[in-house]
Amino acid sequence: MINLSGVDKSYGKTGPKAVDGLSLEVKRGELFGFLGPNGAGKTTTIKLLVGLLRPDAGDVRVAGLDVVAEPLAAKRKIGYVPDEPVLYESMTGSRFLRFIADVYEVPNEKRGRIAELAEKFELTDALRDPISTYSHGMKQKTAIIAALVHEPDVFILDEPIQGLDPRSAFLLKEMMREHCAKGGTVFFSTHVMEVAERLCDRVGIIRKGSMIACGPLVDLRARAGSTDATLEKLFLELTDETANVN
Ligand SMILES: Nc1ncnc2c1ncn2[C@@H]1O[C@H](COP(=O)(O)OP(=O)(O)O)[C@@H](O)[C@H]1O
Ligand SMILES: [Mg+2]
Repeated sequence: MINLSGVDKSYGKTGPKAVDGLSLEVKRGELFGFLGPNGAGKTTTIKLLVGLLRPDAGDVRVAGLDVVAEPLAAKRKIGYVPDEPVLYESMTGSRFLRFIADVYEVPNEKRGRIAELAEKFELTDALRDPISTYSHGMKQKTAIIAALVHEPDVFILDEPIQGLDPRSAFLLKEMMREHCAKGGTVFFSTHVMEVAERLCDRVGIIRKGSMIACGPLVDLRARAGSTDATLEKLFLELTDETANVN
């Protein structure tokens, strides 16, 4: 469902590569965790996946669609939650979500979903207020609902657990699992190791724009020669600047 092949991306002509020869495949039904230290290239990769950035080289495909050649068709398949949600502050939450539903041409009979999700996230009352009055967590939850309004196949989230209260974080994790159980695909970035450890089918670890490890946690542990190493320990070992990586 997600295919990156030989992808490079630099910011500016002379800048170093933020993403460097990245190849990656995520299958339908998979919950994939994308890990890496700050500045490793997670957000850049995600912006390439959702068509907000164009790759300098390589192919980016989501749901079989080339994101560069067919951006609109690809976007219809994708629900994207950015690391810093950009919402229309002057709108009320419900006006904003109706606007998003209009943009995606979601038929009226399918819009009950918005109220359901708002209820789940305890946002029902707040939806009547302007977004400018929301806390960071409330904006995050609004962005999550907005990303799900058109029932996307592929759910792509950039550090989604960040800023959520424990109950909402739990709900979101449950929703991610359910999405995969129904045949959807989830790709999310995090640096919260316990989240990745408990939630993911597979994880990929990126450093300086390149994948340094990718696979089910058991395989990564085997690679590190340890059956009980936590993901955190593996992560620290693999991303150690002085370590010999390949
Ligand atoms: N808009 C930008 N302009 C220039 N450099 C950027 C920009 N965004 C990110 N970078 C650089 O690209 C690299 C990868 O950043 P990013 O993808 O945001 O990493 P992560 O999300 O893993 O923290 C970093 O070196 C960062 O400084
Ligand atoms: Mg980031």
